[in-house]
This record gives sequence, structure tokens and C-alpha cells, in this order.
Amino acid sequence: MILKYEFPKGFWWGSAASATQTEGSSDKDGKSQNIWDYWYSNEPNRFFDGVGPQVTSDFYNRYKEDIKLMKDIGLNSFRFSISWSRLIPNGIGEVNKKAVEFYNNVVNELIDNNIEPFINLFHFDMPMILQNIGGWENREVVDAYEKYAKICFELFGDRVKKWFTFNEPIVPVEGGYLYDFHYPNVVDFKRAVQVAYNTVIAHKRAVKEFKNLNIKNGKIGIILNLTPSYSRSNNPADLKAAYIADLLFNRSFLDPVVKGEYPKDLIELLKQNNLLPEVQKDDKKLIENNKIDFIGINYYQPRRVKAKACMPNPEAPILPDNFFDNYEMPGRKMNVYRGWEIYEKGIYDIAINLKENYDNIESYISENGMGVQNEERFIKDGIIEDDYRIDFIKEHLKWLHKAIQEGCNVKGYHIWTFIDNWSWTNAYKNRYGLVQLDLKTQKRTLKKSAYWMKEVVKNNGF
Ligand code: GAL
Repeated sequence: MILKYEFPKGFWWGSAASATQTEGSSDKDGKSQNIWDYWYSNEPNRFFDGVGPQVTSDFYNRYKEDIKLMKDIGLNSFRFSISWSRLIPNGIGEVNKKAVEFYNNVVNELIDNNIEPFINLFHFDMPMILQNIGGWENREVVDAYEKYAKICFELFGDRVKKWFTFNEPIVPVEGGYLYDFHYPNVVDFKRAVQVAYNTVIAHKRAVKEFKNLNIKNGKIGIILNLTPSYSRSNNPADLKAAYIADLLFNRSFLDPVVKGEYPKDLIELLKQNNLLPEVQKDDKKLIENNKIDFIGINYYQPRRVKAKACMPNPEAPILPDNFFDNYEMPGRKMNVYRGWEIYEKGIYDIAINLKENYDNIESYISENGMGVQNEERFIKDGIIEDDYRIDFIKEHLKWLHKAIQEGCNVKGYHIWTFIDNWSWTNAYKNRYGLVQLDLKTQKRTLKKSAYWMKEVVKNNGF
């Protein structure tokens, strides 16, 4: 078979998931509440159709079945996250044996099926007990995270070689401290900056612990949603707006984790606006050292930006949006089922940026995918014919292929996600899976995209 797009040998074809979105059993076997369990119990109305994280796709009980399906599709790797509140119910201290048993089972089952486990330590799911003392605003939580990370490396590092400290750490900053879509629903730019900064410190401490342990063949990284910021025009005011958006949402994490330093312009911007975080004296060294080995990139949609049209309301809280307006590009291609722009070339631009400005650090696409509402309407002969998803993946892969051809150090592609999962406040509104989940019966059915993916993986291209 002649392939037009062939990927490098050993390419990581896989999928990604997170604990809170898939495990269910959220109050079973010793797990304590995380912010999602708590927020849902308190304000179920904030969740689409009132569905919470108690059951989700029941990975806690059905991991064997799911791993078998992954194997049937031919996927060779899987990224999941450990639930901190399951592993260490008090956030710090005693380790929950049942949790260790569960994660050991998952790791072993994956390996037995020739699927490489990638572990992520934190996917939006702060244990409630630690949120109660301030979450990432409190350095004690940073200390607790460092201990938690070390415990994970020691428990699973003999078998798991690819580790991530955080998934999209900017999202809890945006959701929890700027735009009110995560608990604790604070709107306060200064506190948001502190949360972001302390997350970087937590990340660095975990990287340090990891390197000290000298895990054989082990690599550690972070997963960032490196949403490119495109400017409406080449007018200096538009360019500046895009530059600031990039500083705030991308480089605020990308630069310290890869280069070991914050962009000077970011520090300047925060300073001018009285937003600088509190720092401690050893932080600088910690940030300079402890760089990552590789990086995961999540990409869904671009960010388009233009200069501000009006002065911000001086009585409203200051937000990143004080420095730019979002821009809807006329004629843009849309995922109409989700309301997101589709811009496939973004994936290429991110890879080229890493190549040109970040020493061509090893990377992979850790999430890319398409959420669609009411997918049942596309069922034909019992399966969801999700041709839109196939097109979506294919067009992104073409651009990724081009980036690799041009020398970008990209090692794999993980789809979000394997099975329809619980998406935070959107719950089950938008479905992303290669596999359809019947929420009532927990029955799993492969979608057309799963069969397509199977061919792609088999041929290592298309
Ligand atoms: C990402 C996030 C995932 C998932 C996905 C689709 O930002 O990492 O947890 O929810 O969006 O909405």
C-alpha cells in the first residue's frame, strides 16, 4: 500500500484521559473528595444536565474492557492521570492501598497488552482538603504535591517511563481564578498569577525529585495547551495584543519549563499592573534548573486576537482581556457542533515554534480531538458515522506530518479521547470518543473513527 503520509517508525499512536473524567467510583475505596466532587455536591446546577463525576465511564471497574478495546484498535500508548485524592486521601500522609492496587493493575494491564502507559500527576483535580487551605495559593500545597509526586515515581517508576507533572496548568488558573468555570470560582488576576507561579514551582520540585531518583530510561515533562495567538492584522496595535495574549497564556508556562526563565516582557507587564506574585529566595535557582525532557502539546483551536476597541470598565476586575479583544475571523472554519474554530495549521505552527525558539525539544501531540453534541443523530446500522471526526484528525495529521518532514521533533499523536467522557462542567454534552458510551448501560460501541484509526495505526500513516 502506498502511503501519502507516513509517520516515523515507533510513532506513539494513542489516546489520553484523566482520572476525574473516567474513573467514576468517586467516593469508593477510600477516595476523598476533590474540587469537582465537592463543587458538584454543592452546585449540581452548574453541570450540564446535572451530571456529576460519580460514575463517568466507570474506568475504575472497566479498565480491562477499555484496555482491550484500545488494543483492538491497535493503539500503542495511553496517557492517564492519577487521582491525588484517591492515592493520598488526606492530600499528604498515608497512601491508600486500594488506590495503589488499582493503578498497579492499570499499569500492568496496559503493559500486558503492549500499550505503553504515560502517567500525568495532576489533571485539574485538587483534593478538597488541600483546596480548603488555599489550594495552589498556599505553598504548603506545593510541598504536599512534591511528596505526592515522589510517591508516584517510587510506586510506578519501575514500569512507567513517561511522566507528566501537569495537564494544561493554565486552565485551573483561568477556570478557578479568572473566568469562573472551575472551583473555587474566584475572579482575581493577582491571585491567578500567584496560582500560576506556584504551579510552576510545584512542577519544578517534582522534576527535581524525578531526576534525583534516576529512573532508568525515565523522562519527565508537562502537558501544555499551546494555543497559538493569531493577530487580526499586521497593525502594531493588533500585533501587540496578540503578543500579550501569547505571553500570558502560552509563554507564562512554556518559557520557565523549557528555558528555565520567565519572559522579561511578561514580568514587566505584571509589574506595571501590580500583579507580580510573591516569590521565595530559592525559586530562581529552582526555575533555572530542572528543565523538562519532553513536552506534550494539547491543541484544539486557535486564539485570534485584536487590539482593544474600548477602554475597559475601570470598576470591573482587571482581567487578561484588558489587554486584547478576541477576534472572530470572518469565514473561519467551524466545528458547528461545539462552537470552536477549526484551524488545522495551528498544530504545524506550534511545532515550528518549538523547533525554532525552544531548541527543538522532543514533543508529541498529547491531545487533539473533536467534541460533538448529540452524536446519536449520526448513527447508521448501529454505529456512529463520525466522518467529521475522521476529517478533523486527518487534516491535523497532514499538518503534523509536514512539520515532521521539516525537522520538528514530534514523536506521537494522542487523540482526545478514547471513550466519550465526562467533560467538567460540560459533563456529557460534547462527545469526543473513538468509542461511544451509552451512559445508561455503560455499553461501549466503536465509532467509525475507531475503525479508521485502526487502519492508520496499522499502516503507520494514511
Ligand atoms: C482539554 C482538557 C481535557 C478535555 C478536553 C476537551 O482542555 O485537557 O480534560 O476536557 O479539553 O474538552
